[in-house]
This record gives sequence, structure tokens and C-alpha cells, in this order.
Amino acid sequence: MRQKIIVANWKMYKTLSEAEEFMGSLPREIAGVDDVKAVVCAPFLFLERLAVLTAKTAISLGAQNMHWEKEGAFTGEISPVMLKDLGIKYVIIGHSERRQFFGESNFQINKKLAAAFAYGLIPILCVGENRRQRDAGETEEVIEKQLNSALDGLAVEKDLLQKMVLAYEPVWAIGSGTPANGEEANVVAAFMRSLLLKKGQEVSRKVSILYGGSVNPENIAEFTDKAEIDGALVGGSSLNVKTFAALIRIASSERRT
Ligand code: 13P
Repeated sequence: MRQKIIVANWKMYKTLSEAEEFMGSLPREIAGVDDVKAVVCAPFLFLERLAVLTAKTAISLGAQNMHWEKEGAFTGEISPVMLKDLGIKYVIIGHSERRQFFGESNFQINKKLAAAFAYGLIPILCVGENRRQRDAGETEEVIEKQLNSALDGLAVEKDLLQKMVLAYEPVWAIGSGTPANGEEANVVAAFMRSLLLKKGQEVSRKVSILYGGSVNPENIAEFTDKAEIDGALVGGSSLNVKTFAALIRIASSERRT
């Protein structure tokens, strides 16, 4: 059984004191939930402090991006080694906002994915179609291209590869208040799993696939209850600690007992 994972993507929100306040109360807010992995992907600047606050908790930290090189003359960039050194466990790669606003290409995403594995970070690889592509019926084609190019030439042991997290984030659903339909997202997640078959049955079965795009406490169960969806990547609803904790609680099996 794959463990449920709920990931906060804070994007470019919060000050350090707000981040500290959130992390100071999250452990209490989700006390007793031990079957859902909680991950917070915070701005780089806050990670060092948050690593101290989460040290004795089961909450993991993630970055929202990184460069692929270990070090070098790359002004303004953060390397995988710097993240690893702080005890960061996850890194979001290929978020649609990076593709859209910062020109991140499939080539760069491929290098970042390889670097995440090389330096021992768990990648959360984002894929998803935009509105025009969806309306044109190109969803699967787009996802296949994004996934295949990200994985292209990746020489990673199966044991490591299966730790990867994929996120299906339809661009039109992000920040729009209109999430995908749970059934449709499940079909896309199943399609993503079928694409992973070329990396082996075990990888296809074990990789976690999240849904992201306008997830909130009212709709999360529609996704986390689906067979192929293992959790959520959450933007807006991850900013308030009580709302984020509610998502984790709903995703927990407590809900069904
Ligand atoms: P929202 O939850 O705000 O739609 O953002 C989703 C997202 O982009 C998470 O990475």
C-alpha cells in the first residue's frame, strides 16, 4: 500500500515569522495522524529555520525548485547540495509556474530530476495540461511528452526511482477555484502509471501520484479516495495551518473509521 502524502506548496507567500508560527503549531494540529506524510515546500529563505522547528517531528521539508549543478557560477541559484546540507528531503521539479513564468524547459527539468536522484532528494515532478490543450483533447499527449522527457536517459536504480513522487496538476485548475473532477484525475493518474510501466511493474505500482489544483477541505476526499491518487499538492489551502491540518486529517484513514 502506498502511503498518503499531502504536500504544501507555499509558493512566494509568507514572511519568516509567519512561517515559524505555522510550523510551531502544525505538529499539534495533526497530532495522532500517523498514516499520512506531511511535507511543506517553503521558500528557500525559510528552510534553515524550519529545519530546526521540524527536527523532532515527522513533518518533512521540501524546496520549490533547485539548480541541477552541485556548485558553480550561477548567480541567484540554489544547488541540491545546499538543500541536502540543511536536511531537506523533497524538491518540487517542473511546476507549471516555473515552466510558464520562468521559461523552464523539459531539458532543464530532465537535468533537475537527475540531480535530485544523484544528491538524494525526493523529486516531486509536476505535469499537467493547460486549458487550450485540455479543450483540444491533448491531455494525455501533453502528459506523456512531459513525463517521457523528464525521465529521458535517467539512469537510476529501481529502488530509488520508485521513491519519486509525481503530481498531476492541470494548469487550468491551479489557483482557479475550479478543481478537476476526481474521476477524470484518477483516469489521468492511471495513465501516468501506465507510462511508468516501461520502468518496470514495481516502479509503476510504487510511485506516489498526487493531484494538485484548487484542492481544499471540501473537495480533497474526492481525490484521495481514488485508487490511483495518493494525496495532494496544495497551494492556497496550505497557507493556513488549520486548513492544511484539516486536509491531512481528511486524507488520514481516521476519516473512514
Ligand atoms: P492551488 O492549490 O492554489 O490551486 O495551487 C496548486 C499548486 O500549484 C500546487 O503546486
